[in-house]
This record gives sequence, structure tokens and C-alpha cells, in this order.
Amino acid sequence: MQTDLRGRDMITTQEWTRDEIETVLDVAWDLKRKRALGESHALLRDKVLGMLFFFTSTRTRTSFEAGMTQLGGHAMFIDSETTQISHGDTAKEIGEIVGRYTDGIAIRQCDWDFGNKYIREVAEASRVPVLNMQCDVYHPFQILADLMTIMERFGRDLRGKTMNVSWAYAASYQKPISVPQSLILLMTRFGMNVRLTHPPEYKLMPDIMQQAQDNARLSGGAFEVLDDFDAGFKGADIVYPKSWGALLTTTDNDESARIGKQYTDWITDERRMALAQDHAVYMHCLPADRNVEVTDGVIDGPQSIVYDEAENRLHAQKAVMALTMR
Ligand code: CP
Repeated sequence: MQTDLRGRDMITTQEWTRDEIETVLDVAWDLKRKRALGESHALLRDKVLGMLFFFTSTRTRTSFEAGMTQLGGHAMFIDSETTQISHGDTAKEIGEIVGRYTDGIAIRQCDWDFGNKYIREVAEASRVPVLNMQCDVYHPFQILADLMTIMERFGRDLRGKTMNVSWAYAASYQKPISVPQSLILLMTRFGMNVRLTHPPEYKLMPDIMQQAQDNARLSGGAFEVLDDFDAGFKGADIVYPKSWGALLTTTDNDESARIGKQYTDWITDERRMALAQDHAVYMHCLPADRNVEVTDGVIDGPQSIVYDEAENRLHAQKAVMALTMR
């Protein structure tokens, strides 16, 4: 267990050691237990988290805000559109100024080829920890909650378990690639057999792919890439099919929509779930395009653990805040 995490940024799990991540999980389960028992755990009394959003959110916003209140502090919602950020406050100024008012700055900035750079610029100027609530490259808190949820189902030793991280069709919008990228980065560090399944136009960033490959080698796991939707499900213990944009192929929304239309049959349904292990679980970070990306029968069915996943956002985030913002 690591006890010296005060002041650390959480921009990607890749910058935290496996031991540090295990510490986050230990604390998360302790805080989850305390909440279940109604035990007070005001570890951040009088502390303030500034939450800066450039993009909409349901789970991230509500879980960070609830988490800070449960830890005895306050979460301040800052909307980029209704502040002077939209009139020119720079990343450096946000880091310097909001960092002097608060004890942590959390940011969601998902703009392609910009979000991660923005968050790192704020972190460079900030005297308090910066927490990435999702950028164009990473979604670390989602993936910490996912790992916690998987361990609750399968135990802490995940060696040999097969996880299928798959693209799925959605009509709503070009979703960021941060979830699949963060999944392949973290799950390959725990000795799992990680499959990434996608049509050819939906590649992830080459350096992230290389890091996932390296992680798998170091952990004794495996990392493979498939382009057959059904094959991804076969024999898997965990399936995580979700949509993402063809951002490495095109940043043009219309062209992306045209590409996506070729793959409308990439929907998770009961037939596909039956290809996985009988005990397999269905995961999705939400929101999902119901009956486009996944059938109601699957997402509301007995193999779905999407609500446990969403709940664990709260506990994992509280753990990171309690460890870094003390
Ligand atoms: N999964 C997730 O990050 O949800 P929100 O976009 O609602 O925050």
C-alpha cells in the first residue's frame, strides 16, 4: 500500500504504479463499506474541488459532487460557457487562479487533439492536484471504477480472464476514444487477456496500442486485435462493447456518420452474449444508445453490471480525492 499520494495528479492511470492503483482500490472499498454502514468519513472537511466542464456529463458530475460532500468538503461546478473561460481565460490562468481558491481541480475537456494538452497545461500551473474527468485520450476514473467492478465479480487476481473491449454502432454522436484507450491500458496491467475488437476505421492511437502491448508483456497477460464483432464475444469473461468515433480516420462528422452506417449490425444482443462464457458480464460506461448499441434485453438483463459500474465511480473517485487532496 502506498501512503504518499498527496498532491498527485490523476491524468492517466498509466502514470500511477500498479501498487498505487491497488491502494486506490483498497481505499475505495473501505469508503464503500463505510457508506453502506452509514459511518462518517469526512476526510476532506473544509476542502474544495473546482469541477470545470467543457462537455456535458451525468455520472461524472453527480458522483464527484456527491463524493466531495460525503468527504466533508464542497464541489464547485464551473461551466466553461458561463465563465470568462469562453472569453479568453487561459489554461495557465485557470491553473494558477483556481488552484489558489481550491484544493483540487477536476476537468472534463474532450476536444480532439486539445483536451489532454489543456489539462496538462492547467496541471503545470496548478499548486493543487488536477484530476482528469475525461479528455480526448483518457477517462481514468471510469476505468478505475470498471476495474473495481470487475474485481468484485471475479476476485483481485484477474490473470487469465478474457476481456473484450469492442466497438459498437451508435447513431448519436462521435464519442471520444478515451474509454477504450484507458481500458486497454489498465486491464493489460493486471494479467488479463485483453481483446480489442473494431472495424478497420476505428483504430486507437498507435502509442496507446504500443503501451497496451508493453503492459500485457510485463504483466504476463495478452493483447490482441480483432475485426470480427462475433469473434470478440467468443469465450470472453467480460464484454465491454461501446461506440467511439472514427477519429483516427476522419474528424469530419458527416464522413464519420457515413463510415458508421456500414456497421449498424454491431449491436450487442442476446445471441452475441450467448457466445461469451455463461458467467460473462456485460459492461458499459453509459450513456448507451439503447437498441442501437445494445438491446434492452442485454443492458437490463442478468449479465449486465452497468449500475454497479456507475456506482463505483463514486467510491473510486472518493478514494483518489481522499488520497491526493488531503
Ligand atoms: N460514463 C461517464 O463518464 O458518464 P457521463 O458522461 O454522464 O459523466
